[in-house]
Amino acid sequence: MSEELVTSVIKAIFERRSIRRFRPEKPPREDLLKIIEAGIWAPSGHNNQPWRFVVIWSEDIKEKLSKLSHYSQMIKKAPVLIGVFLEKKAMYHQIKDHQSAGACIQNIMLAAHSLGLGTCWIGEILRNEDRVKEILGLHKEEYEMCALLAVGYPDDKSKRAGRNPLSTFILKEM
Ligand SMILES: Cc1cc2nc3c(=O)[nH]c(=O)nc-3n(C[C@H](O)[C@H](O)[C@H](O)COP(=O)(O)O)c2cc1C
Repeated sequence: MSEELVTSVIKAIFERRSIRRFRPEKPPREDLLKIIEAGIWAPSGHNNQPWRFVVIWSEDIKEKLSKLSHYSQMIKKAPVLIGVFLEKKAMYHQIKDHQSAGACIQNIMLAAHSLGLGTCWIGEILRNEDRVKEILGLHKEEYEMCALLAVGYPDDKSKRAGRNPLSTFILKEM
């Protein structure tokens, strides 16, 4: 792997921050598909690739989803949303499949950042998982919702979340 690519991955990791306000322009569909493709290259247990996506451009659907969350403005105004789900029949282990979904989502967010797109992982809407699936026309028993991702060009000047010092996370070095 080229040094340039390695550097750009680390750069994206350190630069990416959740974006909750977006410019109105929609990203090109190719870029949207590219970031989802980055998602599917995440590792998964047994390479079972349990993730499934719903790409939401429709203002009508966004409006309906926005009513199910405290983050209604972000959901309504995001140029595009990605619903991330696990297909239950592709799953083999609850914890590991959720870990795979997390890796997938992180890939999507980092790839988006590298294309100049901002994202926000919206977990809060999971409390209305069944309603979300109904609105998206997904069978309740077949899919488990992991997250809704807001995606668009950043227009967010709000203060960025920091991190505690590295030393506070390292329990031991032996
Ligand atoms: C599992 C999970 C659920 C999250 N849910 C929400 C959410 O519902 N709304 C929101 O605004 N941000 C949500 N976030 C984003 C976090 O608030 C954010 O990642 C954290 O504050 C660190 O900020 P950063 O992403 O800018 O580094 C979620 C993140 C994760 C990983």
